Amino acid sequence: MPEPFSGPRGLLRYPIDNADLPMSDSPSSSPENAPEAGSASSTRPPRGIKSYVLRAGRMTVAQSRGLEEVWPRLGLSVADGRQSLEVLFGRRAPCVVEIGFGMGQSLIEQASTHPETDFIGIEVHAPGVGKLLDEADKRGLTNLRVYREDALEVLDKCLPEAGLTGLQLFFPDPWPKKKHHKRRIVQPAFVEQVRTRLAPGGYLHMATDWEAYAEHMVEVMEAAPGYRNTASAESAPYVSRPEFRPLTKFESRGEKLGHGVWDLIYAREDG
Ligand SMILES: C[S@@+](CC[C@H](N)C(=O)[O-])C[C@H]1O[C@@H](n2cnc3c(N)ncnc32)[C@H](O)[C@@H]1O
Repeated sequence: MPEPFSGPRGLLRYPIDNADLPMSDSPSSSPENAPEAGSASSTRPPRGIKSYVLRAGRMTVAQSRGLEEVWPRLGLSVADGRQSLEVLFGRRAPCVVEIGFGMGQSLIEQASTHPETDFIGIEVHAPGVGKLLDEADKRGLTNLRVYREDALEVLDKCLPEAGLTGLQLFFPDPWPKKKHHKRRIVQPAFVEQVRTRLAPGGYLHMATDWEAYAEHMVEVMEAAPGYRNTASAESAPYVSRPEFRPLTKFESRGEKLGHGVWDLIYAREDG
């Protein structure tokens, strides 16, 4: 298994590593209800367990402006129900979804450099959503829409069947502690849900700087029906960072420090 870069695992982007979260308050966290959650053999995401923690964060003026002034034009809600991409963007074009875009650098970059493609970002972190909206407005982007809700809800209730060219998941929270593995977004039920939203030949692109999470992703994907790993024989199961995944400032700093990054691209292979 090739290691793209060597060095310590992970970057300092995961302050929640040490969080002891109130999962015990949830009935689904009992051993009876969630015995296999987080393992490659589970088929359903444990109810009530989230892949994120909402944190109160200060909002800059630009971020607030994004949420208040730009949201009515570019924001989408689960309550709006299933979307027709053609109606949403007013054209027929390839559509790529990014889950957990954080502060949105890579999504903004892609939407700017690929005006021929439509993008939908999903993120629960309000400052990140505000920043993305503010930036999208300043750049005059018309090919970007945003949900500020749980991606699992959006996948289930809003994204059209077999409609997406691609779905991106860049540096999802790795939830390194074993007792938190059930919170990892990459689970068998999740990748199956994603598969149904991808057009035939559409791709699921994941990147992580956490080696153990990369291995978990491979395990889940290799067991998932209807996907083909696109890596070459030399680099399989990983691929080199494709040019269309912009290198964020954070990631390039990590690279210089010798941190590893693992990219995986699987294509939907059934009809
Ligand atoms: C570690 S950060 C990575 C952010 C960004 N992709 C980057 O590379 O800088 C993971 C992000 O995923 C978001 N996230 C986690 N689970 C999510 C979910 N179910 N729905 C929407 N966003 C989610 C978190 O709020 C967080 O901003």
